[in-house]
Amino acid sequence: NFEGLSSVWLFGYGSLIYKVDFPFIEQRPATIEGWARRFWQGSHDHRGTPEAPGRVVTLIEQPGALCKGMAYRVSPEVFEHLDIREKNGYLRFSTPMVFHDDSSAEGLVYIATAENAAFLGPAPSVDIARQIARSSGPSGPNSEYLLKLAEALRALGDHDPHVFELESHLR
Ligand code: BEZ
Repeated sequence: NFEGLSSVWLFGYGSLIYKVDFPFIEQRPATIEGWARRFWQGSHDHRGTPEAPGRVVTLIEQPGALCKGMAYRVSPEVFEHLDIREKNGYLRFSTPMVFHDDSSAEGLVYIATAENAAFLGPAPSVDIARQIARSSGPSGPNSEYLLKLAEALRALGDHDPHVFELESHLR
């Protein structure tokens, strides 16, 4: 419940980095600590089908790891109406975010945990890349998701080895 707050920071580390279909007040590149991006969440509704799920990113806890993303300051009303798939096993938490000028703020993050039915978990990167290469769903090809994410991370000056390894396998 965000009543009384004039705005809320939302931290995006996946499709939210490159696909922004909600109004925001301000947008700032940011980094969170202790979390690593992984293509471990199954997608049967967006980048795959129930018969052939694709893979999208979630965050896993990893002490010392840094995850770069994009933070959006949104009004509480906008936030309440954002569809971040939080209804289907996504978990929301608040974490400190560090901006490029070293200032910081608390931001809300959504992750898919191992408890949700669509969670797939780790696999060899060649296998993940093959799964992404052959999957497609209502939101488009799974490969497009990976390529757009890699491109957006490059633009942020990030070098996420997991994402870039998958990207080179795919290419
Ligand atoms: C993200 O980019 O942060 C995100 C996108 C969809 C669901 C959860 C998180």
